[in-house]
Amino acid sequence: MTETAREQAAATSRRIEPFAESVWPWVHDLEERNPEAVFFGGGIPPTDVIPVERLRKSAEQAWQDGAEVLVYGEVRGYRPLRELIAERMAARGAAVDPADILITNGAQQGIDLAARVFVDPGDIVLTEAPTFMDALRVFRSHEAEPVGVPVDEDGLQVDALAAILDRLPARPKFLYTVPTYQNPMGVTMPAARRRALIDLAQERGLVIVEDDPYGDLTFTGEAAPTLKSLDPEVIYLGTFSKVLAPGLRVGWVASSPRLREAFFNVKEGTDIHNERIMTRTVFHAAQGFLDAHIAASSAIYRSRRDAMLAGLERHMPQGVTWTFPAGGFFLWATLPEGYDTDAMLPAATDRGIIYLPSSWFYPDRSWVRSMRLNYSSQPEERIEEAMRRLAETINSFG
Ligand SMILES: Cc1ncc(COP(=O)(O)O)c(C=O)c1O
Repeated sequence: MTETAREQAAATSRRIEPFAESVWPWVHDLEERNPEAVFFGGGIPPTDVIPVERLRKSAEQAWQDGAEVLVYGEVRGYRPLRELIAERMAARGAAVDPADILITNGAQQGIDLAARVFVDPGDIVLTEAPTFMDALRVFRSHEAEPVGVPVDEDGLQVDALAAILDRLPARPKFLYTVPTYQNPMGVTMPAARRRALIDLAQERGLVIVEDDPYGDLTFTGEAAPTLKSLDPEVIYLGTFSKVLAPGLRVGWVASSPRLREAFFNVKEGTDIHNERIMTRTVFHAAQGFLDAHIAASSAIYRSRRDAMLAGLERHMPQGVTWTFPAGGFFLWATLPEGYDTDAMLPAATDRGIIYLPSSWFYPDRSWVRSMRLNYSSQPEERIEEAMRRLAETINSFG
């Protein structure tokens, strides 16, 4: 083989290129540059909230099924877990047949499966702008073109969506939305807007993929009804990553009788099935425990949110605004005209705080004045002090 032929033979696919575009290598370099910096970039339950002992005991219980947990099978996932998920979804208003639930390797695999089921190269996928950055990478890896729909304090703007649908050259394959305690803004779509979104989607034949990792983590005591509860054709993605632990890698897709086989086939063709010990572990851990655990952890997150809001209120200069999350992990702060949060991040790191700059959450990277701040991972005192340092950084750039 000549050198050129060998290079050609080793050429990697276009599809891996989007995965190279990530904020994380930069953020990890910054963490090394100042290991003391308080990290507000994450989006996971803090280790002291993860119920380790309960999970350990549940894993032991899972192993009691013996060799049965070590063979192929259960492509849809452990049935008792799917039934438990169906009950939990019913509590949020959606009647789902456990046969339509497919256990996945986290919600992230659900995003990938949805793309595999719907997307051909060149297709348009609508997302929120801003949206979950790892969803953008997945859609691009399937050679979809993500088109952003603006988000305000009440979530995705349905009027803007209607206008975008009118002007798009082709019908988008689906809309990917996080309507409850959105990542990255922390905002929630109120009931009337949810209704309007479903009505528009039905009228225009638009498939909705609802990603709901944070929906249970409410600070008001009332979990919002899901979009799935308004329309059984909505494809719903859930996960135990934020309410138990992300390292479990247990999530699910709730599709519909119409799409059940498509999701099943794609999942089976991709990785055969999920790990059987972990799905049992999650089932045993969740049963009779999860609601109380969610209530207790949400109380902690709420108090951390309050500390962040108070810190922002106390220290931020005029012109800085932020969202008021009623649940979940994040808030979104926006700086006055002229600021660039990518450019400011190294200086913020040197002053002891790391956030995620807004541009990474936009399909076109165009908005540079905001930042995602994760309040769930840090104790109150540290949050307060970090907001002071963030304000100092902003002032020094003003
Ligand atoms: C909106 C959203 N979807 C999906 C995921 C991935 O979750 P999982 O750990 O279940 O794959 C995350 C994690 O941050 C997320 O914020």
